[in-house]
Amino acid sequence: MVPNTKTVRPAEPNELVPEDYFAEIDPDQFFGNEAPLEIDLGCGDGKFTLEMAEYYPERNFLAVERLLGRVRKVCRGAERRNLKNVRVLRLESLYTLQWLLPESCVDRLHLLCPDPWPKAKHHRRRLFQEPFLRALVRVLKPGGELLFKTDHDEYFEWSQEHLEAFAGLECLDWPGNAFFYPKTDFQIQWEAEGKRLQGLRARKPK
Ligand SMILES: C[S@@+](CC[C@H](N)C(=O)[O-])C[C@H]1O[C@@H](n2cnc3c(N)ncnc32)[C@H](O)[C@@H]1O
Repeated sequence: MVPNTKTVRPAEPNELVPEDYFAEIDPDQFFGNEAPLEIDLGCGDGKFTLEMAEYYPERNFLAVERLLGRVRKVCRGAERRNLKNVRVLRLESLYTLQWLLPESCVDRLHLLCPDPWPKAKHHRRRLFQEPFLRALVRVLKPGGELLFKTDHDEYFEWSQEHLEAFAGLECLDWPGNAFFYPKTDFQIQWEAEGKRLQGLRARKPK
């Protein structure tokens, strides 16, 4: 038998590496407390997560991202800023919601500038559709919120239609000054190109 010479990648500081990817995790255990939990799904380079975590030290932030380089960047950013309330999970977004997170554990989930998959033949790859909404409602606490932003008008309309057809979440107003909400890396980039972002906010009924 040929010995397995591959080494396991060491975890980054602040990286959440589940012992078992086929069992639910206990977020409180990873943070060491029961503070409110916010998820940044597809966090990219993590500017949003890091600024939120700095502003709200009394909340926990779990950033989910599939690209290793971006995961490393967020982990190191959290370490540099000495943030104790950030963990980064390198995993696929929908899988995380469907299988890793326990029921009713999330206070707010941020889905910011997800890939819009503009071509019709790729629409089935869009995250914002029924399986995502079902998984989202499972993990949100009663009264927990979804906050979604995109620069892509057609994806925004698509998302609104899917949300209405799903009927498991109630829409809320989201005026610009409602609460502290830093811009993401992609938002800054797109606004610099003159693009306009649209946002929606919805809540799981109490
Ligand atoms: C357009 S970027 C937006 C990043 C960040 N939210 C922002 O606004 O700056 C989308 C991010 O989601 C990540 N991503 C896309 N699909 C994903 C998936 N299925 N699971 C986890 N991450 C995903 C990409 O790697 C990328 O970093």
